[in-house]
Amino acid sequence: MTITICIGSSCHLKGSRQVVEELQYLISQNDLKDKIDLKGTFCMNNCQNGVCVTVDDTPYSLTPENTNEFFENEVLKRI
Ligand code: FES
Repeated sequence: MTITICIGSSCHLKGSRQVVEELQYLISQNDLKDKIDLKGTFCMNNCQNGVCVTVDDTPYSLTPENTNEFFENEVLKRI
C-alpha cells in the first residue's frame, strides 16, 4: 500500500508535517514498514481539501487530529 501525503505549501500550513510524523509513528508502532510505503508529493491541486492524502488512488482529506482515526479505519482495515 502506498500512502502519499501532500507537502505543498497550503497543505503544509494545514499540518501535513504533523500528519507525516503521526503516520510514521503509527506505521512503526504497528510494525507495518514492510507493507506501507509513505511518500510525499507537491501540490495535488486540491488545496481547499488539504491536508491531501491518497491511499493508492483513493483521496482523503486529513488533519493532524483525524490522522489516527484515518489510520485505524482506512489503513489497518485494508492491510
Ligand atoms: S498544497 Fe496540497 S493540494 Fe495544494
